[in-house]
Amino acid sequence: MLSRSVARTLSSQSRLFSSSATRQTKVAVLGAGGGIGQPLSLLLKSDPLVTSLSLYDIRGAPGVAADVSHIDTASEVNGYAADQLDQALDGVKVVVIPAGVPRKPGMTRDDLFNTNASIVRDLATAVARVAPTAHILVISNPVNSTVPIVASTLDKAGVFDPAHLFGVTTLDVVRAARFLAGISNANPRDTPVTVIGGHSGATIVPLLSQSSYGKAVTGEAYEKIVHRIQFGGDEVVKAKDGAGSATLSMAYAGAKFTNALLRGLNGQKGVITPTFVKSPLFAAQGIDFFSSNVELGVNGVEKIHPIGPISAEEQKLLDACLPELKKNIEKGKAFVA
Ligand code: NAI
Repeated sequence: MLSRSVARTLSSQSRLFSSSATRQTKVAVLGAGGGIGQPLSLLLKSDPLVTSLSLYDIRGAPGVAADVSHIDTASEVNGYAADQLDQALDGVKVVVIPAGVPRKPGMTRDDLFNTNASIVRDLATAVARVAPTAHILVISNPVNSTVPIVASTLDKAGVFDPAHLFGVTTLDVVRAARFLAGISNANPRDTPVTVIGGHSGATIVPLLSQSSYGKAVTGEAYEKIVHRIQFGGDEVVKAKDGAGSATLSMAYAGAKFTNALLRGLNGQKGVITPTFVKSPLFAAQGIDFFSSNVELGVNGVEKIHPIGPISAEEQKLLDACLPELKKNIEKGKAFVA
């Protein structure tokens, strides 16, 4: 029989990583030396569904690899220097991209575009060449634009598969559950919130009305929590005072989404989470990338769920989201065109 503390540890681990059937899965992290990349590499080393970890950065990845490689889990770890991108991508099934610059106080995510657009485009070009069937998880901001940049880059190379490309919006989902739990005196496990739209300010649309705890939040408390979910990233940027944006909570969110994808790829049924993908939901309005609940399966995107019933307040949030999201997507596409 398990001791109580071991049982507790296992059950808390299973909140981040659930494992069912296991298969050989090689995962690469591009930007592994950074504020997100390092703790993300640590968490992926702890995920039993990752069998091989390939860590790449223009700075510092071999050191991170040597460090996490001593952790006593089964996966093997290799680190690659700036001129070894192709080797880093050899045989990978999943590529997670947190490469690029983060925000400083007063910056929006869109202010990062000039620097990060070309970083993401160049990395996507290498993935298209070396690992064209890999699943690509984009963390680098502005996600609303970097995902279309990756899509257009892969498309140009003739290897774009919409079922294999994901913008990681999990941090918004994690924050929404945490903040709702805080004002509901509940455990975040019991307060999941579907967050749709994109990943920046007004494009982040939490659907609190679809949750029993969320439905109970009204008036000023509702306005406050919506604002906090949309601008929670600013709290971290401000508190870090020039030293960057969310890294630890983002690494947690990135590892959580990667684990969900790996479970789907391994054949687990019913793995459903919001993520920013090529989507038919608002394509008629010229918005062909959108985050909504997506079922993950053996081929990546298995099924894109409709947004479902929403309240009048949420309709207003969605109305504010769509035009901004459209601009962000077009900016990404124009960069590659
Ligand atoms: P960081 O500056 O600490 O790390 C970025 C890393 O990328 C550095 O190690 C750098 O050497 C590396 N890098 C730069 N160019 C590269 C290239 N061409 N190839 C490989 N690696 C390269 O930044 P941090 O805090 O880790 O943030 C990374 C990105 O993640 C930022 O764009 C940030 O805005 C974004 N982010 C996204 C979130 C989300 O919810 N999707 C949440 C928080 C941050």
